[in-house]
Amino acid sequence: MPDTRSLYERLGGYDAIVAFTTALLGRLQADDKLGRFWENRGADGVAREHQLLIDYLANVTGGHMVYTGREMRTSHKGMGIDSEDWDRFVQHVGATAGELGVGEAEGADVLAHLDSIKADIMA
Ligand code: HEM
Repeated sequence: MPDTRSLYERLGGYDAIVAFTTALLGRLQADDKLGRFWENRGADGVAREHQLLIDYLANVTGGHMVYTGREMRTSHKGMGIDSEDWDRFVQHVGATAGELGVGEAEGADVLAHLDSIKADIMA
């Protein structure tokens, strides 16, 4: 029988998304090149961004959360995110998914979503 559950459910729901984004953000901040985006930012601002990332992912994967943050293009415009940054980001997503045991189909669905917003993030 085909799995008709939402991607949100297949990923493991809210707690799984929190675990995923916690690990991912830690990796991004520790990355030699990407770390610059989080340098000198207060813990409160980073916590707010983390919550918005959770809400965003929960929303776009079919959970019942409302995303109240800004659009991807607006919130990343002018950051100077280049293609190496993007590739590193995607590698960290893959590594985090591997560490947390995200299924192959679910990982591919997440990567497909990222690909669909790439042009907005790099605008
Ligand atoms: C190399 C890629 C990326 C970098 C370097 C990056 C960096 C950042 C930074 C520094 C912020 C904080 C902006 C601020 O507080 O003013 C932010 C916000 C955010 N990012 Fe990213 N980001 C990247 C890709 C993505 C992707 C792929 C997603 C979605 C899956 C995403 C989702 C968000 C969300 C939801 C916010 C909060 C928006 C808001 O404040 O309203 N980001 N990002």
